[in-house]
Amino acid sequence: MAKLIYVAIIALTVASKCLALQCTTPTIIRGAWFSWENKNTLTEIDATTMTNRGTCVDIKDDYHVNYTMVFHREQENCFICVKILVRTVNILEKMESPCISLPDPNVATVDRVCQALDPHQQLITLFSENYVPVNCRSSLEGVWNFAYQNRFKFTGECRHPDAQIRSCQTAGSQFLITNQKFNITYKKCEGMLGTFDGVVEYSCLGDWFVGKNHYFAVANTKESRKDEKYRCFLKNRDDDLFIGVSITAECNTLKTVEKSPERLHIRPVKSEIVEPGCRLPQNFSGEWINTANIDADVFINETHIIETHYPDEGRYRRTIYVCKEQKDTRVLMARLTVDGCQKDYVCFDFVPQHHNLIRYRKGVAVIKDDFSTVCSWVQFQNKVKWRYDLFLKKNPVPIKCPVAGKFNFTQKGDVPFETRILGGVTLSPRPNVYCKENISDFSVCDEEQKEIAIDQNYCLSVDHRGKPLDIYSDPDYKMKCIGFWKENLKSYLITFDELDPFSKYRCWVYQRADLNRVLMSQAIGPFCDLKQTVNSYNYTEGATVAVEMEEYERERDQCPMYFDDGSNPHLNPESHIIQFDFGYFKSSSSSTTTTTTTRYQMHYHLKVLFTCLLIELTRICI
Ligand SMILES: *[C@@H]1O[C@H](CO)[C@@H](O)[C@H](O)[C@H]1NC(C)=O
Ligand SMILES: *[C@@H]1O[C@H](CO)[C@@H](O)[C@H](O)[C@H]1NC(C)=O
Ligand SMILES: *[C@@H]1O[C@H](CO)[C@@H](O)[C@H](O)[C@H]1NC(C)=O
Ligand SMILES: *[C@@H]1O[C@H](CO)[C@@H](O)[C@H](O)[C@H]1NC(C)=O
Ligand SMILES: *[C@@H]1O[C@H](CO)[C@@H](O)[C@H](O)[C@H]1NC(C)=O
Ligand SMILES: *[C@@H]1O[C@H](CO)[C@@H](O)[C@H](O)[C@H]1NC(C)=O
Ligand SMILES: *[C@@H]1O[C@H](CO)[C@@H](O)[C@H](O)[C@H]1NC(C)=O
Repeated sequence: MAKLIYVAIIALTVASKCLALQCTTPTIIRGAWFSWENKNTLTEIDATTMTNRGTCVDIKDDYHVNYTMVFHREQENCFICVKILVRTVNILEKMESPCISLPDPNVATVDRVCQALDPHQQLITLFSENYVPVNCRSSLEGVWNFAYQNRFKFTGECRHPDAQIRSCQTAGSQFLITNQKFNITYKKCEGMLGTFDGVVEYSCLGDWFVGKNHYFAVANTKESRKDEKYRCFLKNRDDDLFIGVSITAECNTLKTVEKSPERLHIRPVKSEIVEPGCRLPQNFSGEWINTANIDADVFINETHIIETHYPDEGRYRRTIYVCKEQKDTRVLMARLTVDGCQKDYVCFDFVPQHHNLIRYRKGVAVIKDDFSTVCSWVQFQNKVKWRYDLFLKKNPVPIKCPVAGKFNFTQKGDVPFETRILGGVTLSPRPNVYCKENISDFSVCDEEQKEIAIDQNYCLSVDHRGKPLDIYSDPDYKMKCIGFWKENLKSYLITFDELDPFSKYRCWVYQRADLNRVLMSQAIGPFCDLKQTVNSYNYTEGATVAVEMEEYERERDQCPMYFDDGSNPHLNPESHIIQFDFGYFKSSSSSTTTTTTTRYQMHYHLKVLFTCLLIELTRICI
């Protein structure tokens, strides 16, 4: 009996040893692979073995992109460490150690054997023999004219006006086979041996990044010799003027774009010309910023909208829209997409321009040039909640603020208003005056009520003549009103402050709470979050601070309260001032234009009048 148990134990240990000496390779690295290792090399990997490496005995998986494996080569009884990096479905890169012998084969683990792996060795690129082409968009998109250099074939640069790289997406289907190929048209340069005429069509095998280096691999569709079929390309995110190309089926010859065996010096080709078919309203013309993308410049004239943005220093990307057809508020525009590729069509839905802003919605881009398709309302993604997007004037002209008057306020928020000197750091100096009461002051009291002045600590006291004592302290913040409107039952205001280091343009939500109380909430940037309400004060709703304001105009201030909820932003704000024609004013205002001061005085008197009336009414009611 004891003997039997003993045998069983031995059998178990042997079995467990055999199990330890086995592993399964991941499916993504299985198959037939071509590489150039000073000669054409074919590597086959199946579930347990790799050509010339033996049987897999141990494997370590890092995030399913790096596999480190140990293979056992039976004939020599040695172990080899192979590290495989999965770059794309069609491309692997590998490095390996020499085959080492181990006294005890049981310790043939990744940790032990892979100590022999030199991490600085050249990576060998493996190209799938049965590759599946992928979409080229992430590798290369656009049309370029190019000049080329080949350090091994000729000296100098061959530039020909007809040499072209063309990688354009056919919109409609991303699985379309033409989206998985691109063409390079080479041209011969007179007197330069090694230059040639010919079109090379490449299938895209996928792309990957190593730091700022952007690699992509291709297969020449017309080439049957394996070593001539596969190539590797290199772009650098900082430099979009050059592309490096390998002249062998290897990527490790491309370390930098400058030192690549073949180098293409590229120049984007202009987009095709589209004849405009309609005209945008004249008052759209000018320079704007897009609040959805504040780093972009927007230029609009009667026929074009040109949006330029700067993804990196010294680089820019431009999208051009050309007016094609217009009905009601909708405008069908041709979009000339990146770098000379073919156009598609987008529908804009505009609100007539007002103040310093254009409100619009943009539909989904489609390939068809047909108003009823492109501009059908289903092209506008109808989320349950949506808001118009905004273009804001680059050099805005201030308008009368929808909230004006003199208010004290209390505030709450992530970024409250603070006492400061505009453009400085020291606290406001104030001569020794005794302040009975300090308040936070929000005033829109300049002559035309176009500028908001905020003073976080304002001395309320007046002298015996009723003149404000605090005539020395400057406001801590000054911002100009440049536009307002009402949407989704909320009133929005855009202000402009040249000195604001974070965002010159700020969006606010505002609301009248009472006869003389106003609530406002300031947003972090130039657009208001859908969730932002007048009470929002923190980043979760896109706001920085909420203020509650109460009017406190004193007789000397001559600063009438004014409120407009923005439901008709197209009205000329100046015409809001209703000029009552009291008989006794006739003589002084016979020329129909009263001066501003008399107008304000009139306002003040009117207000007193109305307040009295109100008090009278309440008394009657009670
Ligand atoms: C994969 O291996 C490469 C080269 O050894 C290394 O640079 C990279 O960080 C690894 N990635 C992961 C996810 O382990
Ligand atoms: C590449 O050029 C060839 C010949 O000019 C043409 O037949 C082919 O459609 C082009 N392929 C692409 C992807 O543009
Ligand atoms: C609008 O600008 C585009 C691009 O700068 C220009 O080609 C076009 O002629 C301009 N249209 C008008 C009406 O000025
Ligand atoms: C701009 O023009 C449109 C019509 O062309 C008009 O409805 C809108 O009120 C104008 N805006 C301004 C601020 O004049
Ligand atoms: C404004 O000042 C008055 C009088 O000093 C005070 O009663 C009121 O609470 C203040 N309102 C706000 C919103 O700070
Ligand atoms: C008002 O503020 C000033 C300084 O900003 C301070 O000296 C003064 O004591 C304050 N007055 C009251 C009543 O808080
Ligand atoms: C942000 O404000 C909302 C109400 O506006 C409040 O419910 C929430 O607790 C606040 N969050 C933080 C982190 O202060």
